Amino acid sequence: MTDRRSKHLQRIAALLAGLAALLVVIAFAVVPRFIATAPQGPTVGGSFSLIDQNGRSVTDADFRGKVMLIYFGYTFCPDVCPTTLGNVAQAYDLLTPAEQAQVVPIFITIDPERDTVDQIAQYVDAFSPAMVGLTGSPEQVAPVLKEFRVYAHRVETTDGNYSVDHSSILYVMDKKGQYATHFSGEVTPKEIAAGLKKQLAG
Ligand code: NI
Repeated sequence: MTDRRSKHLQRIAALLAGLAALLVVIAFAVVPRFIATAPQGPTVGGSFSLIDQNGRSVTDADFRGKVMLIYFGYTFCPDVCPTTLGNVAQAYDLLTPAEQAQVVPIFITIDPERDTVDQIAQYVDAFSPAMVGLTGSPEQVAPVLKEFRVYAHRVETTDGNYSVDHSSILYVMDKKGQYATHFSGEVTPKEIAAGLKKQLAG
């Protein structure tokens, strides 16, 4: 082996070692963060103090004794929110009256600037008379988004308006207000209703 060739190999070996070290660093830095953001255990959710669609101040404590089915979104959402809330309304209709009395579907806005009390009222009413719509000042809403680990990112649109990219998760909170389970992705009204019935039975 020539001297030049061995130097070349040494350089490649050093480069590979460097790359391996970098991968380890990335894995330790990034992977736990992904795991930590997945809803799990009692660390998801918490107290909130917001305004309902009738303009009344409400807190999470007002819903004790009921299973809360909570969804975060915004009324100007073009697709995901209306689809999901439509499924929620259908799921609620699949429950017996006795079960319905123990469940409250709640829509919480991630866009309090545009989602005024009147806007929220019209919106939730279009889905179900049983649905509670919650808004508030940005200062009231922000900590709730944090507690539920909601991803919401404002994106300016060309028409001078904006949309909000957001996570789409249905949270099931038990009668004590603690996280019970969640639905994500495409979930049918039947699946949501089955999950709620199971929660009520358990
Ligand atoms: Ni949406």
